[in-house]
Amino acid sequence: MVPARKNGYAIGAFNVQNLESTLAIVEAAAEEKSPVIMQITPSVIKYAGLAYIISIVKTAAQSAPVPVAMHLDHGEDFETAAKCVEAGFTSVMIDGSFLSFEENSALTKRVVDIAHRKGVSVEAELGKLAGVEERSVEEKEAILTDPDAAAEFVEKTGVDALAVAIGTSHGAYKFKSEAKLDLERLKAISKKVSIPLVLHGASNVPQWIVEKANKYGAALSGAKGIPEEQIKQAISLGIAKINIDTDLRLAFTATVREVLTNSPKEFDPRKILGPAKDAMKEVAKSKMRLFGSSGKA
Ligand code: G3H
Ligand code: 13P
Ligand code: ZN
Repeated sequence: MVPARKNGYAIGAFNVQNLESTLAIVEAAAEEKSPVIMQITPSVIKYAGLAYIISIVKTAAQSAPVPVAMHLDHGEDFETAAKCVEAGFTSVMIDGSFLSFEENSALTKRVVDIAHRKGVSVEAELGKLAGVEERSVEEKEAILTDPDAAAEFVEKTGVDALAVAIGTSHGAYKFKSEAKLDLERLKAISKKVSIPLVLHGASNVPQWIVEKANKYGAALSGAKGIPEEQIKQAISLGIAKINIDTDLRLAFTATVREVLTNSPKEFDPRKILGPAKDAMKEVAKSKMRLFGSSGKA
């Protein structure tokens, strides 16, 4: 991520849950000759089991012709982060964004201390990724990342990458009205913080995929994400890691629905999940091109 920030591109960090999503991402990265981050959330660890998901992702990383990082996404406490450091993750996120500044710094510092001893890098988050629409100016100030606080946080904790809140949120319903990131705030953070910055909640929610899903029975009206132009601007202002989960889920779901509708006699899981995996792969490849990481491996 350090070369990415220095050279004005970003690495895609894609959430994986199972074999299909892992294959989709590693195949996309290989075809695009792009470095890639595969990230695993605590809820995936509960769903798949740590040993299973690690084996799948490690197998992909070992056989890939490009660099693949295995990252803990939204580590919720010290114990989870420590377990992942021990288990061979290349980086971990400790998400103390809902704690006070002091508590978040202290927790992050504890994780940095154990992770760095093993050569594992650490991402933390300052500010909250809650919806910002319909909030007063003071409320927005309270949840979006403050540039001075960000500089102090990085200095205090020794963290390697910082997730910032500039108006994105997780999921498929990011904006009720105009989609707009606080790029001025990002510029101010970028001036004070030189480590790679991370953008969570960065899915674009492509309308053609939403329409395809709805055509085959989904109920996803009003889904809206981040315009691609704003992602490009964010990269030019220091974002070097971009988290994508929702767009992959949408592609997967729309394709499963399409196959089941168009091929009612099909009951081989591979014939249903295979096309869904390919749909996720195409989304991941288009992100790598958008983020500028294609050809960088
Ligand atoms: O923020 C990360 C994900 O989009 C949520 O993932 O449902 O695996 O916890 P999860
Ligand atoms: P999206 O929901 O926008 O894909 O964000 C995913 C994310 O931030 C995972 O940490
Ligand atoms: Zn996130």
